[in-house]
Amino acid sequence: MDIAAILDDISAAMARAPDRGRVASYIPELARVDPGRFGMAVALPDGQVFSTGDAALPFSIQSISKVFTLALALGRMGDQFWSRVGREPSGQAFNSILQLEHEGGIPRNPFINAGAIATTDAALAGHAPREFLGELLRFIRTAAGDESIHINEKVAASEQATGDLNRSLAYFMAAHGNMVNPVEQTLGAYFHQCAVEMSCNQLAKAALFLSGTEGAPRLVSPARRRRINAMMMLCGHYDASGDFAYRVGLPGKSGVGGGIMVVAPAKAGIAVWSPGLNAQGNSKLGTDAVEMFARATGWSVFD
Ligand code: DON
Repeated sequence: MDIAAILDDISAAMARAPDRGRVASYIPELARVDPGRFGMAVALPDGQVFSTGDAALPFSIQSISKVFTLALALGRMGDQFWSRVGREPSGQAFNSILQLEHEGGIPRNPFINAGAIATTDAALAGHAPREFLGELLRFIRTAAGDESIHINEKVAASEQATGDLNRSLAYFMAAHGNMVNPVEQTLGAYFHQCAVEMSCNQLAKAALFLSGTEGAPRLVSPARRRRINAMMMLCGHYDASGDFAYRVGLPGKSGVGGGIMVVAPAKAGIAVWSPGLNAQGNSKLGTDAVEMFARATGWSVFD
């Protein structure tokens, strides 16, 4: 299979796209990103990385960080974690508060904002945010095999300044006894984890720990890997998760910075970045690109 040629075809198709979606504007630092950017990378377990376009440019991974934090929280709490966070698709926007009231402060899944904040709270487990962020960066750097990955403090500050909706979600959960650490500490850690910057090349390599391939970093057990992949398939794209499964058929996690990290079980790690978003807050061209890729390779888990 000629992965380089497939990526070239995808890149050419995306350059012709008439509608690139809209860049997120609710986090001011993200609103400044050039909507014309497009990058994609595929990392194989033997160390090869195929890429196209702006695959070497770092971008804000945003909600993609929720996958790494989930791995850390499960490492800390094991299956007890699931008493604090559900594992059902929400069918709601990523930042919705609606279900939280109905469901007594237990968020539907670890990837909507409420669930991710509870997950960060679980991963913190009484430690200072700085220690958690150090551990998170170590995890991501080990997964990607790259020590240069860092947090963009400007983006974190921008989120901190405009994060009232996230604050509402967190305090609502605290009122229901579903916050262990001081709320502002958990939020500070959450805003910073979202501000991790990575390129497609780095993110594709980082996804390999979930691929179950020989030679990929063993950061979680096989059972945990299967479960994290299941959560990504069912909940990784919020109220467009069904559409992503239908079109792509691979576990994926999007971020409002326009990135998507995708796992091709037993095959590869994949990452795509195009900052323009669709109505559900997922990368518009990113979704189109991985759909093209899954079709060209036959790598959908349903193939
Ligand atoms: O909390 C927020 O709103 C952002 N830091 C992350 C949201 C996000 O990436 C949603 N994804 N599409």
